[in-house]
Amino acid sequence: MDGSHIQFCDRKSQVDLIQLQALFKLGAFWAKERSTDDLRIAIENSEPVISLWDGQKLIGFARATSDGIYRATIWDVVIHPDYRGAGLGSKLVETVLSHPRMNRVERVYLMTTHQQRFYEKIGFEPNSTTTMVLYNQPLGDSLPNQEMLFQESIRG
Ligand SMILES: CC(C)(COP(=O)(O)OP(=O)(O)OC[C@H]1O[C@@H](n2cnc3c(N)ncnc32)[C@H](O)[C@@H]1OP(=O)(O)O)[C@@H](O)C(=O)NCCC(=O)NCCS
Repeated sequence: MDGSHIQFCDRKSQVDLIQLQALFKLGAFWAKERSTDDLRIAIENSEPVISLWDGQKLIGFARATSDGIYRATIWDVVIHPDYRGAGLGSKLVETVLSHPRMNRVERVYLMTTHQQRFYEKIGFEPNSTTTMVLYNQPLGDSLPNQEMLFQESIRG
């Protein structure tokens, strides 16, 4: 595939949430049920957010969260199935890693179920020693109380 017309974009405002939702449904098994409202929140709170475009068509996406110096994590890396195998996925991850919020960070983490070999080619190593997870409870009726407690603890 001639990739010369594919454009990388780091502007969050550029991301079309409807197209992103469709891309996740098609190519990202962990993110098939995400709503556009929740995707907007995830994007607002991530930096960098990199999208890939073939003209007006969203064909790739990745985002990261970072403290800018010690730790960062890459999330939601996906290339549209029709565009895979042409080097775009590795270029996408490298674009995330070269962003100013990422390029000085001591350790960059990511979680992957099936794509270890893809990430190893970029330089990531398996890391079985540090991972734990808390499955947070779904937000329910108790949320206002929790928010009040949080505000009180901020006020001291
Ligand atoms: C993983 C993904 C982003 C790779 O994108 P891509 O554009 O096809 O990857 P590239 O063409 O840049 O591949 C780069 C290299 O990794 C290799 N590679 C890609 N996927 C691989 C896999 N699953 N296993 C082994 N090698 C793989 C390619 O052969 C290529 O090797 P080369 O440099 O020797 O030619 C894409 O397959 C995808 O979107 N998958 C579904 C979503 C997903 O699983 N994302 C990762 C979640 S953590």
